Amino acid sequence: MIAPATRRIWAIVPAAGRGERFASEAHPLPKQYTALLGASVLEWSLRALLAEKRVHAIVVVLSAGDEHWPALAAKLNSPKLLTAIGGAQRHDSVMNGLDFLMSQADAEDWILVHDAARPCLSGTDLSALIDVLGAVEGAVLATPVVDTVKRETAGDIETVDRTGLWRALTPQVFAFAQLRDALQDAARTAVAVTDEAQALERMGVRATLVRGSPFNIKITRTEDLTLAARILKMTQGAQLRIGQGMDVHSYGEGDHVVLGGVRIAHTQGIIAHSDGDVVIHALCDALLGAMGDGDIGQHFPDTDPRYRGADSRVFLRVVAERMQAAGLRLVNADVTVLAEVPRIAVHRSAMAANLAADLNVSAQLINIKATTTERLGFIGRKEGLAALASVLLSQ
Ligand code: CTP
Ligand code: MG
Repeated sequence: MIAPATRRIWAIVPAAGRGERFASEAHPLPKQYTALLGASVLEWSLRALLAEKRVHAIVVVLSAGDEHWPALAAKLNSPKLLTAIGGAQRHDSVMNGLDFLMSQADAEDWILVHDAARPCLSGTDLSALIDVLGAVEGAVLATPVVDTVKRETAGDIETVDRTGLWRALTPQVFAFAQLRDALQDAARTAVAVTDEAQALERMGVRATLVRGSPFNIKITRTEDLTLAARILKMTQGAQLRIGQGMDVHSYGEGDHVVLGGVRIAHTQGIIAHSDGDVVIHALCDALLGAMGDGDIGQHFPDTDPRYRGADSRVFLRVVAERMQAAGLRLVNADVTVLAEVPRIAVHRSAMAANLAADLNVSAQLINIKATTTERLGFIGRKEGLAALASVLLSQ
């Protein structure tokens, strides 16, 4: 058995359905592409997976001739996103996703299947599901049945004992080879399976049920869209990420400093491996911090000759790409420059414009402030300068 740490997690997102129970004149688009709070249903489902670092790659299974995918792929712009073409039933689509991964995934790798039609998956539930992998044969997000359950047969109504009853949600995770064998066997014996766990149960593989939120609903009918919008509005706050950054450089020989990409004439220069732009360095660190993605020194080591005298705006653009790939966007950034000299105030809007251009956001989201330290400390003695940055990111 391969050690759990080496078992990669590949997501398969079946998105090739026709949404027959959903379609109406009011919603002409396929349900996976229907607008939901400024994104599409599929975009929300994918963003949840993209935000989980342990997911190695995501195969989105599309219907043949899907004309809406290219725009979404361009928007999400993540190298983790791959595509395959779906089949007649959901399990055929999942199977096609597995076929697509045949040459890349190992038999013991985990396959995490998540419906495109479940846009309200929370990062907490996804993380809890992945946390149990290793010691189990498979794992399924599920929620206990809380209502009294009735079965109607030929006009007769009986109450079903709900003890031990769960509603199976997605994601569901199983080992690649086991899932493939189980789906192939179900297809061969013409057993209609409605989720992965059912196919695996037939083979004697037991999934562990991981209790997930009942808010992880599937968009099936039109009214589910309203419910999903309310759920997302309510849970969005939990998906905000905060970051802080700080950078200091000392003054040395030279005739200018670079702050926020703006060259400012000064009687001294900055001692640094790169251009010594403390504003951009602090901002990059704040962004990487909010992303849970290390720090600037890790991504752009000052021992690397490529970064000698580098324009720090290049760093910021790389960080912006990583942020987009992680499915995160900037809510706002607040930067404070601490310097006795030179005067910063007149350059603030030019700095904000540079930062906004590199991050591909409106300059309204970026605030730059400056303060002296009342002649106290190294900044007060004009030996150097510093910057502090705080950012808020949202999924
Ligand atoms: N799905 C798929 N391939 C199919 C059928 C379904 O990839 N042949 C996907 C859907 O796009 C959806 C998920 O499986 O993300 C769950 O299926 P369901 O909610 O039933 O969606 P639809 O099949 O599209 O809807 P309906 O059954 O109402 O037609
Ligand atoms: Mg269906």
